[in-house]
Amino acid sequence: MKSVLVINGPNLNLLGMREKDIYGVERLEDIEKKIAGEAELYNIKVDFFQSNHEGCIIDRIHEAKGKYDAIIINPGAFTHYSIAIRDAIKAVEIPAIEVHISNVYNREEFRSKSVIAPVCIGQISGLGSIGYLLALKAIDMLSKQDGTI
Ligand code: DQA
Repeated sequence: MKSVLVINGPNLNLLGMREKDIYGVERLEDIEKKIAGEAELYNIKVDFFQSNHEGCIIDRIHEAKGKYDAIIINPGAFTHYSIAIRDAIKAVEIPAIEVHISNVYNREEFRSKSVIAPVCIGQISGLGSIGYLLALKAIDMLSKQDGTI
């Protein structure tokens, strides 16, 4: 059984309350329930972690080494400047997929730069919470396909 760690970064605990026109009305716990349901279909074990603190996210990524086959990460605003999270993902050598609820390419200019994406196997942006489900599907398919995961 493959295991996947889903990490959500700063302010994503406010989903459903913050900027609903951009991020929608689903709360993070609703989204995590949907992900857990999808994971069951793929027979994937899934754990969740959310933090507003860069160091806590880095510690969780370090702890994941050797324990998870893949990481799905929405780094929130850290996407755009956290070299430390980027280095952590690279260091643990766990294949990661970056997910964004909003389309980071049709918003402010500063959101179109991700320092995390280059150390991920792929990125999904702009499909709302479906992005997390697609990331899970990709992990399932890649694990059966070519051993990327
Ligand atoms: C986000 C996009 C980021 O630019 C922003 O800072 C977030 C959420 C998204 O999921 O669309 O907090 O990662």
